[in-house]
Amino acid sequence: SLCPSIHYRPINPNDLDRLEQIHRDIFPIKYESEFFQSVVNGVDIVSWAAVDRSRPDDHSDELIGFVTAKFVLAKDSEIDDLIHYDSSKGEETLIYILTLGVVETYRNRGIAMSLISEVIKYASGLSVCRGVYLHVIAHNNAAICLYKRLMFRCVRRLHGFYLINRHHFDAFLFVYFINGS
Ligand code: ACO
Repeated sequence: SLCPSIHYRPINPNDLDRLEQIHRDIFPIKYESEFFQSVVNGVDIVSWAAVDRSRPDDHSDELIGFVTAKFVLAKDSEIDDLIHYDSSKGEETLIYILTLGVVETYRNRGIAMSLISEVIKYASGLSVCRGVYLHVIAHNNAAICLYKRLMFRCVRRLHGFYLINRHHFDAFLFVYFINGS
């Protein structure tokens, strides 16, 4: 479209097919159908969709980007050692980003940046939430630049974290600390 009009909204059950299709198109890892069901039904998962309202009617609500994330108890997380606990706050949590993607024709317009900003804004509003974290494969420069630009900190390199087509690949673990962590 000539003048995209990007909006952000929660993912809903009508997004199922498109969500699965984009995941298949852009990720080297296969996600199970239970994952997509949990995302569209919001079961233990928070998510945001990006849509282009300037597209023709039958596409104006179709996903062109998404971010999916889940809650993890800070004490059960692999970055337990990096959290400064505040015993007055009760059960502290983190948000773990599962998947982030923007379809190719909509890249380099700041959509991924806005999607991650939605996650950070949401997490910052939860007093028990101490941070947002994620894994990224070590050769994904676009994503690594994005997380660095958004002030995520790279805290770990995990050797052989991903197994893709019987080959191991390293991952970086990035964290964005919030609420005094
Ligand atoms: N090369 C270098 N830096 C890049 C690139 C690139 N190709 N793309 C984005 N960036 C960085 C830049 O710093 C950019 O800011 P700038 O242009 O002002 O310098 C910043 O990221 C923001 O870029 P956006 O336009 O917001 O990113 P976009 O909407 O194009 O989406 C994404 C980036 C999500 C990585 C996209 O390329 C994509 O979908 N790739 C395939 C799937 C993927 O790799 N997802 C992330 C995996 S990690 C995970 O899911 C937890």
